[in-house]
Amino acid sequence: MSYEFILVDAQVAPFVAKIQLNRPKELNALNLQLMGEIRDALLALDADDAVRAIVITGNERAFAAGADIKQMAGRTAIDMLKIDQFSTWDSIRKTKKPIIAAVSGFALGGGCELCMLCDMIVASETAQFGQPEINIGVMPGAGGTQRLTRAVGKVRAMEMVLTGKFISAEEAKAAGLVNKIVPVELYLDEAIKLASEIAGKSPIAVQMAKESVLKAFDTHLQEGLFFERKNFYMLFATEDQKEGMAAFVEKRKPDFKGQ
Ligand code: CAA
Repeated sequence: MSYEFILVDAQVAPFVAKIQLNRPKELNALNLQLMGEIRDALLALDADDAVRAIVITGNERAFAAGADIKQMAGRTAIDMLKIDQFSTWDSIRKTKKPIIAAVSGFALGGGCELCMLCDMIVASETAQFGQPEINIGVMPGAGGTQRLTRAVGKVRAMEMVLTGKFISAEEAKAAGLVNKIVPVELYLDEAIKLASEIAGKSPIAVQMAKESVLKAFDTHLQEGLFFERKNFYMLFATEDQKEGMAAFVEKRKPDFKGQ
């Protein structure tokens, strides 16, 4: 298959493939065609038995600076609904083989969301992550509010999404967004090394393990809250609840019986 905006190497190392975003002048801004090409390449690599792990990368200056603002600027809500660009992202999420993002420079907006769609992130020291959509009058649309929040927690995600501020590779690592930081000349090699390590395992076990970890993201907060609430109410059926609350009111130590 030939592509205009990505470069694909199906064997960058034994059993490891590489997809490189290749719109350097536009900082790899993610236009519809580029995203479609990533989807098509991933489908092909997923079906190729000689591939067991995939690395997605950009270049030193940018992994990707977000969705293509110039392509979106004039669109109406109805255009956006009809184009339904995020169905491409849903297909990418269905890739069975593990995907490692090798990130240097800007990973912003859709660029940050694309690396969060991957399974792991190896970053160069120069990597910067951000969801700056708020600065252009919108908000993240490709999973940023959900995946970033799950990755870095509510208060950090709120700060990034509401102020548009970028975080450094160090901050991203401390927040749990990134697996590893290495000097800029090593980030791609390091990602390929990690992919090679995984490619040495049982490919079926790896795929099932990936699927299972992703399942953890499929439980909705609301469902979790209902579950929590039910358990909280159930505890009012215990003697320990009566004892614990009574002890508090009477300013004494509780004597719990486990009943
Ligand atoms: N879309 C389209 N073009 C982009 C782009 C984007 N997201 N990001 C950068 N470019 C283009 C610039 O327009 C510029 O093109 P020209 O040379 O033709 O003017 C070229 O890439 C280089 O960019 P800059 O000159 O701006 O480079 P810089 O080093 O001064 O700044 C930057 C770098 C801070 C990343 C800045 O380019 C920037 O702020 N980009 C936009 C980031 C952004 O807002 N991303 C979110 C997009 S919306 C989104 O992603 C929605 C979603 O959830 C899916």
